Amino acid sequence: MILRSLSLKNFRKFKSAEIEFPDGIVGIIGLNGVGKSTIFEALAWALYGSIAARTSVSEIKRVGASPSESCKVELNFLFGGNDYRVVREVNSKSSNATLVVNGKTIANGSEGVNKYIEKLLGMDYKSFFTSVYAKQKELNVLSAMRPHERRPLILGMLGIDAVDDIIKNIRDDAKNKKNILDRLRIELLDENGKPKTEKLRREIEDLTKEKEKISEELHQIEEKLERKEKELLVLEKKRKEKKLRYEDISKSVEELERRKEKYLRKKNLEDEIEKIKKKIKERKDRLKVEREKAVKYEGIEEEIGKVEDKIKEISSKLDAIKKERNEKEAFKEYKRKEILEIEKRKKEIEKLGPDAKCPTCERVLKNHYYNILEKISKEIKKIEKESSVLSEQIKKIEEKQDIVEKELDALQKRNKYLSEERRELDKINATIRSLLEEIEEGEKSLVEKSRELEEIKDVSFEKNEYERKIREKNKVYEEYQLVLEEYNNKKDENNRLKLELERAKGNKKLLEQKIGSIKGQINDLERIKKRIGDETVDLEYLQLLVDIMSSFRTDLISRIRPMLSAYASEFFERLTDGKYKLIELDEDYNIKILDDGKTYGIKRFSGGEEDLANLCLRLAISEIVSERADRQFNFIILDEIFGSQDSIRRQNIIQALNALSSKFRQIFLITHIEDIKNFMENVIHVIENEDGTSYIKIE
Ligand SMILES: Nc1ncnc2c1ncn2[C@@H]1O[C@H](COP(=O)(O)OP(=O)(O)O)[C@@H](O)[C@H]1O
Ligand SMILES: [Mg+2]
Repeated sequence: MILRSLSLKNFRKFKSAEIEFPDGIVGIIGLNGVGKSTIFEALAWALYGSIAARTSVSEIKRVGASPSESCKVELNFLFGGNDYRVVREVNSKSSNATLVVNGKTIANGSEGVNKYIEKLLGMDYKSFFTSVYAKQKELNVLSAMRPHERRPLILGMLGIDAVDDIIKNIRDDAKNKKNILDRLRIELLDENGKPKTEKLRREIEDLTKEKEKISEELHQIEEKLERKEKELLVLEKKRKEKKLRYEDISKSVEELERRKEKYLRKKNLEDEIEKIKKKIKERKDRLKVEREKAVKYEGIEEEIGKVEDKIKEISSKLDAIKKERNEKEAFKEYKRKEILEIEKRKKEIEKLGPDAKCPTCERVLKNHYYNILEKISKEIKKIEKESSVLSEQIKKIEEKQDIVEKELDALQKRNKYLSEERRELDKINATIRSLLEEIEEGEKSLVEKSRELEEIKDVSFEKNEYERKIREKNKVYEEYQLVLEEYNNKKDENNRLKLELERAKGNKKLLEQKIGSIKGQINDLERIKKRIGDETVDLEYLQLLVDIMSSFRTDLISRIRPMLSAYASEFFERLTDGKYKLIELDEDYNIKILDDGKTYGIKRFSGGEEDLANLCLRLAISEIVSERADRQFNFIILDEIFGSQDSIRRQNIIQALNALSSKFRQIFLITHIEDIKNFMENVIHVIENEDGTSYIKIE
């Protein structure tokens, strides 16, 4: 793998930065905290995503960048002869990633890109960075740590802890299995610690005996029932026969009864017809009499009409007479009053005498007085004459009135008589009408009854035969009842037996169910036993696996040490220009160096040599990790590896690193020490601006 270029946008301290990675030893130089390590963190993030960032994704974006700006990293690299470009971008709303190979997009989205890269590089993030990225901290650890810390760190870097994890998981599994087994074994025992199956088997034996007893009982009931059913069949046959016989005879009795009824009806009809005929005759006789009676009254209506007309005529005549009489009488009365009046006046005049003065002209009457009296007398006479004429006339009218009144009286009497006669006639007529109705009705019913009689025709009825049949019927009925009772009793008995049978069957079934359920329990226990067997085998396998994995681990570790020492020796020989040929590691991974045919502890050597030996051990680890993945990475990043070394030692290391250029095409040396640039052909400066952002300057 060769790094080509990296472009950063709003990534931590960088607002915008473009870096072309040259070959050879490249110094990344800048003051503490300017963002040197950030460059490679960005590289790790581009490849592996959020898992490779020091902080959560939200904190990666440059503080001070506006919300609309996104944080973006683009990395170009060569791998296996292909050109790769990976781009990652996050903003407040979304995140995205793309991977392009030779100009063609082959993966999209963080997940997709992550998976692709992991597969491409053949290792996960941790392994990859262990092999390409060495930190001062690690070098310090290697030299300054106590053995019990150093050993696990190295094994961790080499990924042996993965084996430890596996062993731990298997042990956990085994422990779980053991717990399960303990629980299962307890399940097999009862409260007294004895196998449950023994007790259950005994229960089954008891229940089976009981069941056999019931089966025997059942058998006996069934035999008995069979016998009884046969008997019942015989009775049933008998019962049916009797029933048929009874039905037959009932039918013939019914037939006889119908005939009897018809016969009686016929007799009845004949009587009725006779009665009706008699009645009709009697009514007709009466009709004749009544009609003869009515003849007497012929012409009565006309006579009544005439009499009434006459009464009207006479009445009006009488009215006229009465009127005339009244008028005349009134006139006569008037004349009488007139006379009285005149006489009264005459008396007044006579009382005055002849010397009186005229009341109007005041003259003395004298002669005039006698004249007046004479005149008045004359007048009275005249009126009296008129009145006597009137009296004469009235007398005549009275005579006439008397005659007319007598005539009217006679007429009214006649009329009354005639009205009574007419009422008589009305009565006769009503009788005639009702007789006619009765006759009509009688004749109608006569027709009906005759027709019915016609329909009945001839019917014979033998009373003796009928009574004989009835007796026979009663006898058969009694016989039938006897058989029926016997049959019913037998049937009840059988039903009781059947009930008994059902009960026995039920009991048997119950026992079978109980036995079944206990068998089920035994089966469950057997299954548990089987499972115990299976789980025991599994547990044995797991224990075996633990043993195998442990030996594998031991073997791995035992082989790793010589390998590490071989690789470290190779690096050390190169870096010391052949001065030292062998680095050895003891069991605690302490470094021993062979000098002049003898191995010495590291403390015997100079500080620079010690740092170098540690660096070689670290490089050896990188080498083994990448080799195990069968990958070659042609670059290495050494982040602040100088620690407290003086400038001469630093110079030595840089020179020594030159010797590795055949193994690594790119060696990135991150340092805050400015002088270093004097020993290098390629320098990338990281510089902080006044506003706190950083930029890149390539020299
Ligand atoms: N999101 C961010 N925005 C701005 N600065 C950041 C952000 N995240 C971290 N930093 C700063 O980056 C610096 C660490 O950068 P680093 O690369 O470790 O420096 P060095 O050059 O020492 O390796 C710190 O000063 C830290 O405050
Ligand atoms: Mg740093």
